[in-house]
Amino acid sequence: MANYSLTINNRRYDVANVEPDTPILWILRDTLGLVGTKYGCGIAECGACTIHLNDSPARACSLPISAVSGMRITTIEGLSDGDVLHPLQQSWIDNDVPQCGYCQAGQIMAAAALLNRNPTPTDEEIDTAMEGNLCRCGTYHRIRQSIRDVANANRKKGGKSWPDHLTPMED
Ligand code: FES
Ligand code: FES
Repeated sequence: MANYSLTINNRRYDVANVEPDTPILWILRDTLGLVGTKYGCGIAECGACTIHLNDSPARACSLPISAVSGMRITTIEGLSDGDVLHPLQQSWIDNDVPQCGYCQAGQIMAAAALLNRNPTPTDEEIDTAMEGNLCRCGTYHRIRQSIRDVANANRKKGGKSWPDHLTPMED
């Protein structure tokens, strides 16, 4: 057992007496109550549990807490700035994307990570970035359109894609 200090959504959390190989998904959901990140396959195959580690997408179901301590973790709860939605969240609403919704937090997190590193992706780049996130309801076309809409808006305003509270830091 060990103690860990985690930085999640720009807030510090101290977690005590945890086995080092406990997946961070369990800590997020069961210990900290951050249940927006979903459990799907549990073997890093579906993307439902996608979070950001230092602005890059990662599978929370397969990452032990010992591997993420000291990194900046962002979950779907940290994507909006209070009541101000991330542009992708608004685009998801505008395009009426979700059906059952189960995969959607992971989809949005994967898309947000793409826009963090490339604010104006092409359709091909969108497809490559999103191919590991599965949707049993088949919402892929609307997901692509939502990302495309934000990318097009970014092109018009010169590349900005994320709210100030999510501006990537220099690593
Ligand atoms: S639950 Fe983590 S990738 Fe499926
Ligand atoms: S919206 Fe149902 S699994 Fe994607």
